Amino acid sequence: MTESIIHSQRPQTTDGHLREQRLIVTIDGPAGAGKSTVAKLLALRLGYLYLDTGALYRAVAWKVRTSGIDPSDHEAVAKLLPSTTVTMAYRPEQARVSVEKQDVTEEIRTPEISRLASVVSAIPAVREWLLPVQRRIGSAGGVVAEGRDLGTRVFPAADVKFFLEADMEVRAARRHRELTAAGHAAPLTETRQDIQTRDTQDRSRDIAPLVPASDANVVDTSDLTVDQVVDRMMAVIAAKL
Ligand code: DC
Repeated sequence: MTESIIHSQRPQTTDGHLREQRLIVTIDGPAGAGKSTVAKLLALRLGYLYLDTGALYRAVAWKVRTSGIDPSDHEAVAKLLPSTTVTMAYRPEQARVSVEKQDVTEEIRTPEISRLASVVSAIPAVREWLLPVQRRIGSAGGVVAEGRDLGTRVFPAADVKFFLEADMEVRAARRHRELTAAGHAAPLTETRQDIQTRDTQDRSRDIAPLVPASDANVVDTSDLTVDQVVDRMMAVIAAKL
């Protein structure tokens, strides 16, 4: 049995300055709400690690697909996990994600893997398998962790919790722009349908559904610029530093 490990190396801060208080900051929310963009910027400003937990679910989805396993066969998916090794290697610009030895950083961003990641993330064995991995990376603090259940399940005692929301049209347009820039152009209607389906799945699954933690700061990003969102969030974080 191959051990499943994640190598995480703390990133260099831009000015070499590390704050003494190393908080756990969580950001949850649906696709297209702006989580990744602001999480990266906050991590950079704070000199913290940016933990993209969606990438872990995407890596599992990639493995399921390349193994030719039917994702509705939960037992087969569960059997695949012990022989799966996901590695996140931190680089200044972006974390590289590998499954076994293969770099899948770009491949896990396709619409197909987005759909499959949402499906496999509803499988209890997958969530159980990824839980200690995420906690191992983040529990020492100095982390901005982004996903769906960070504030509710992975880090329920996080120092600062955010839940980002945005109107469906705004989210669809943002995701469409991102996909087009990454070379995965598809009609806007298809992107909108994809994120609607994914949202419904992520919000309605039995285990760790997408829901704001009771103590989360909810931010609607529909009419805000990235800088405005980051400034608003920094003000909340600064009160804890
Ligand atoms: O954030 P993302 O779009 O890369 O996430 C892909 C899928 O992974 C998402 O549709 C649901 C799942 N996911 C999850 O269930 N829990 C998380 N903490 C992060 C992602």
